[in-house]
Amino acid sequence: MKALVWHGKEDIRCDAVTDPRIEDPRDAIVRVTSCAICGSDLHLFHNFIPAMLPGDIMGHEMMGEVVEVGSGVNGQLKKGERIVIPFTIICGECEQCRRGNFSVCETTNRKKHLAEKVFGHPTAGLFGYTHLTGGYPGGQAEYVRVPFADKTHIKVPEGLSDEQVLFLGDILPTGWQAAVQCDIQPDDTVAIWGCGPVGQMAIRSAILLGAAQVIAIDRLPERLDMAEAAGAVTINFDEESVIERLNELTDGKGPEKCIDAVGMESYVSPWQPDTIYDRAKQMLMLESDRPHVLREMIYVCRPAGVISVPGVYGGLIDKFPMGLAMNKGLTFRMGQTHVNRWTDDLLRRIEEGQIDPSFVITHTARLEDGPEMYKVFRDKQDSCVKVVLKP
Ligand SMILES: NC(=O)c1ccc[n+]([C@@H]2O[C@H](COP(=O)([O-])OP(=O)(O)OC[C@H]3O[C@@H](n4cnc5c(N)ncnc54)[C@H](O)[C@@H]3O)[C@@H](O)[C@H]2O)c1
Ligand SMILES: [Zn+2]
Ligand SMILES: [Zn+2]
Repeated sequence: MKALVWHGKEDIRCDAVTDPRIEDPRDAIVRVTSCAICGSDLHLFHNFIPAMLPGDIMGHEMMGEVVEVGSGVNGQLKKGERIVIPFTIICGECEQCRRGNFSVCETTNRKKHLAEKVFGHPTAGLFGYTHLTGGYPGGQAEYVRVPFADKTHIKVPEGLSDEQVLFLGDILPTGWQAAVQCDIQPDDTVAIWGCGPVGQMAIRSAILLGAAQVIAIDRLPERLDMAEAAGAVTINFDEESVIERLNELTDGKGPEKCIDAVGMESYVSPWQPDTIYDRAKQMLMLESDRPHVLREMIYVCRPAGVISVPGVYGGLIDKFPMGLAMNKGLTFRMGQTHVNRWTDDLLRRIEEGQIDPSFVITHTARLEDGPEMYKVFRDKQDSCVKVVLKP
C-alpha cells in the first residue's frame, strides 16, 4: 500500500510499504477514506519531538471503513462499518480509561519502558507519533491497523460526510477540551493564542460554552478572518501589542481564561526580547521548546485565572515565570486530548447542526500529494488552514 513515511527532518515521502495485518485478536484493519495533516505532525516534520525513526508511518487523524476484525473484537465493531479513529489508542479497561483519562491509558503504549524513563510514567499509545507513545504506524496511508479496536473507534451514523466527522478524532475534541478545562463562566473573556485548526475549534467551543467575549490572536489574515466569522474579536500580533490590546478589551483586568493553541514552535516578532534567546537555545539543543506564548499568557491572565494548554510541548522550556504564575494564583490545565471522553456529545452536536467542523478545510488532495501538502500547510501557502488527503 501507499503511505506517508517519515525519513528525517523535513523529509516525508509517499512510499510503497507492506499492508498492515491483524497482529492481535483485538485489532481491526481500516481502509482509510480520509485523513488530515495536524499541527502536531509539523512538530514531527521539524524533528522537534524525540524518538521518531526513519520508516515510521505518519498520521493520526483518519477515518474509513472496517475491512477486517480480529477474533477478540467481540462484535463491538463489524466489517463494513464506518469509523473515525481517535488519535489516542485506548483499552477502555484500565483505571485511567475508567476515569475517562484516555490519553494516559495505562495499557496501550507498547513501549512503556521508554515513556517511563522520560516522563516518569507511560502515557497512551498514539498513532503516527513518537516511539515514546508506542511508535504505532499512522493513518496517512491506504490502510491502518487499529489496536484495541473494540474500544478505539467512533462509529459514524448514516448521512454524515467524511468532512463533517473526520475531526472528531482529534482537533474538534482538542479545541473543546481546551475550552471545557477553562471552566467558562458567563462573564468570562477567553483569549486564544493561535488561529490554526485547533484554535478555530477552541474559539467555536468557547462561544458555544457561553463566554462573554472571545479574543483570537494570530498574524495570518485568513485565519483571523475565520476567527472573526465565528464571533471572536481578533488581534494581529504583527500589528499591535497583544498585552496592551488584551488589557484594553478587558478594562485593564486581563482575560480570565487563556488558551495556548500554538505550542512549542511559537513565532515571536523580531522585536520581542525572547526571540533570539529561545531560537539560539533551541538550535544549540539547550532548550527543546519556545515558550513565548506561555510567558505572554501568564503575564496577561487575570489573577485567579486559568491557563489551558492544548498546544504540544515536547521537552524542556526555559525562563518559565513561575513566580508570576504562583503569586497570581493561576490554574494550569493541559494534556493530549482524552478524545473519547467528548465524542458522544460532540457527535450529537454535529448531528443537530450546532457545529460543522468542515469549515476549516481549505485544501483537499491525493495521498501522493501529501509530502508537498506538508510544506503548503507549514508555510501557510495559498491561505492553507487545513489539509484533507484522500488515499
Ligand atoms: N493536545 C492535543 O491533544 C493536541 C491535538 C492536536 C493538536 N495539538 C497541538 O495544537 C497546536 C496547534 O495545532 P494546529 O493544528 O492548530 O497548528 P498550526 O500550526 O496550524 O497553528 C498554529 C497557529 O499559531 C499561530 N502562532 C504562532 N505563533 C504565535 C504567537 N506567538 N501568538 C499567537 N499565535 C501564534 C500560527 O500563525 C498558526 O496559525 C500544535 O502545537 C499541535 O501540536 C494538540
Ligand atoms: Zn493532532
Ligand atoms: Zn486504558
